[in-house]
Amino acid sequence: MKSPDIVRTQKDLRGQIWEWRGLGETIAFVPTMGALHSGHLSLVKLAKGKALKVVVSIFVNPTQFAPGEDFESYPRTEEADIEKLSSVGCDLVYIPRKGSMYNAHHATHIKVGGVAENLETDHRPTFFEGVALVVTKLLNRVAPDIAIFGEKDYQQLATIRRLVADLDMPIDIIGAPIARDDHGLALSSRNQYFDKDGLSKARQLNEIMFECARTMRNGADISDATQRAQSELLAAGYSSIDYISVACPDSLEIMTSGTVNKPMRLLVAAHCEGVRLIDNCQV
Ligand code: PAJ
Repeated sequence: MKSPDIVRTQKDLRGQIWEWRGLGETIAFVPTMGALHSGHLSLVKLAKGKALKVVVSIFVNPTQFAPGEDFESYPRTEEADIEKLSSVGCDLVYIPRKGSMYNAHHATHIKVGGVAENLETDHRPTFFEGVALVVTKLLNRVAPDIAIFGEKDYQQLATIRRLVADLDMPIDIIGAPIARDDHGLALSSRNQYFDKDGLSKARQLNEIMFECARTMRNGADISDATQRAQSELLAAGYSSIDYISVACPDSLEIMTSGTVNKPMRLLVAAHCEGVRLIDNCQV
């Protein structure tokens, strides 16, 4: 397939977007932080089926990393990323230059309530503010018809849906299913931090999560099932569990006990060999 064009400035990005708009082309957008894997590429493939042109951004966004998180060491693999994007028919890669996203006078913050509260926010209090800000800026810059986000980051997807609805952005937000490896582990740029032993421990997460969801579907009490899953994760070598919670799939309101009598979401975040993993599935 044809290599995508690469733009690094807002001026060049706009030039291309305006040209496409002039021709009446529809535009889908997939924002990423790079270190691309088949999960990201599945979003691009989905985008290809929904619009005539697909734009992917690569930007490791500093405002969504807290001090002490892996911003500096986050994998940066630009050349390989561009090659992968060529193979799935991406039309344009936007790679904003370091320093061009937030100027020295930047003073605007975006705080989403509701769905952005609890779960991730209990452990990464400034994460969604960082995500909301960069996604707003990227959506403004690219001005797509649709934007695609993975269900892998389920609370992030819900937060962006809320943000776009609340701020009247005329963009359709589409959720893409979670891409997993042959053992069911959700693909993540951070999986490359694992050695072989770490990887086999990591793969326990999805097994324990799916089993927990199955027992709740069969009538187990939410509190019993999630506590058991927590013990199983610790026994599997996980050092700590941030949460293993059942929530309403739309409002993300958490249900801590009782039995599940309508479709719910089970969301998990846990630490394995120094890597924080998140996953989720339907109950
Ligand atoms: P990043 O972690 O690079 O992920 C980019 C997109 O790919 C997100 O929408 C994420 O949910 C999706 N994704 C990652 N792994 C996936 C998998 N295994 N299956 C399906 N989709 C997957 O998420 C971010 O970047 C950032 O927060 C961003 C939205 C770009 C803002 O900086």
